[in-house]
Amino acid sequence: MIVREIVRDVESPLSESADAAVASITLDRQGSATNAIFEVRDPASERVIATPPDHSVDDGLAALARADRAGRAWARETARRRSDVLHHAYDLLIEQKDRLARIITREMGKPLAEAYGEVQYASDYVRWYAEEALRPAGNFRENPVGGSTILTSRAPIGTALLITPWNFPMAMATRKIAPAIAVGCGAVVKPAELTPLTTLAVAEIFVRAGVPEDLIQIVTTTRAADLSSALMADPRIRKVSFTGSTGVGSILLGQAAQHVIKTSMELGGNAPLLVFDDADLERAVEGAVVAKLRNGGQSCVAANRILVQSGIADAFVEGFTERMSRVVLGNGLGEGVTLGPVIDDRAVRKFSSLVDDAVAHGAELRLGGSAPDGAGHFFEATVLDRVPEASEIALTEIFGPIAAISRFDTEAEALERANSTPFGLASYVFTENIDRAFDVADRLDAGMVGINQGIVSNVAAPFGGVKASGLGREGSGEGLEEYQEIRFYNLARRAR
Ligand code: SIN
Repeated sequence: MIVREIVRDVESPLSESADAAVASITLDRQGSATNAIFEVRDPASERVIATPPDHSVDDGLAALARADRAGRAWARETARRRSDVLHHAYDLLIEQKDRLARIITREMGKPLAEAYGEVQYASDYVRWYAEEALRPAGNFRENPVGGSTILTSRAPIGTALLITPWNFPMAMATRKIAPAIAVGCGAVVKPAELTPLTTLAVAEIFVRAGVPEDLIQIVTTTRAADLSSALMADPRIRKVSFTGSTGVGSILLGQAAQHVIKTSMELGGNAPLLVFDDADLERAVEGAVVAKLRNGGQSCVAANRILVQSGIADAFVEGFTERMSRVVLGNGLGEGVTLGPVIDDRAVRKFSSLVDDAVAHGAELRLGGSAPDGAGHFFEATVLDRVPEASEIALTEIFGPIAAISRFDTEAEALERANSTPFGLASYVFTENIDRAFDVADRLDAGMVGINQGIVSNVAAPFGGVKASGLGREGSGEGLEEYQEIRFYNLARRAR
């Protein structure tokens, strides 16, 4: 395979403004007791762009003390005040969208246009929870045998530990922070060590919007495991929300069980995307490209296995491969780039090995398959057809720009194969038959089903999975309840 040219040169004013955006972040508001630092690198150039503090466990515990104290006062504020502050934060985030998008692209690599999309998506969670903060949070019921009235209410659960991933550094932060603030909780946030800068910038903006200085504590560190186990052993942590791998999620769930802490776990996926013979071909191709390449495929809801019915398969593969061949690979700040670098060299090595293994099992390489030489962590948009079920790529969460296509004959076979995974996060169905769309969607083991479209996520939707893909929901009204505890008052009444 010929490795195509990639866009490495970036117009210098844009590059300079991205560097200026990164340089404008205050790396450490509260100070680290140890003076240790770590390096954050731009995945497109491998250049060090910032050196935030490498906080210790003791720093984390001090941060917890501050967040917990501030949270107790914040919980006594009115819902209207919390809502107003979040509305103000939304306005400031949008006002700073250029700066935030450049920081996202610099530290995470996604193309600038996608980074703008993430800024809007992330800010929408803040606006959504500004609105949800005002919704009634209780109800009133009669004892069925009389003699009392039961009033239920929802109280803030207490201080939350929020552990965010590197792939959507802004959206995953706001999807956790905004509902916590909306209901009156403080939070300790541990951003991914690969992409801590966006979270620091967002936290600064929250403070400017009126969020109390200590309420949201961002703890940058390379010692994630030590920090989270120490924090979760502390009785002040009442909630943990994690987005990341199922392996780490299971460890956190074990710790949460030990200390009886409420959890939300957004874990791994292996999303099937089913294209039936009766699908609209153009819509299916476009939807599959989006489901595969959004965020460079570095998303837990990315289409991992593309299953196409035999009658439409050849036309689909041709159209899809043509569309994928138009992708422009390069530095996310570069002109016209639609596929940025992947996050690190480990990912590049994994992709090469997945492609080799699939081809060795009999898959046909239609496009890409290689990593360009030179600085930066790049991998071509890749299409594999007739991928055997036994190949590693069909069993693993790819998390990159490789489309693994295989074919099926019947609806029953498609469902059986789609569900033959321990995971159950997102799935996608393309068909013009409305009965089939709903029947298949009902029978897929998944928390989220995209029907005739390649994007499922929405602030109004309860994002989350079944089976090994996690517990709890984020976004929507359900995401708010994750930060609340129900209590009731049983009020004796005089006999009538
Ligand atoms: C994720 O990949 O972790 C989240 C993607 C989304 O919110 O759409």
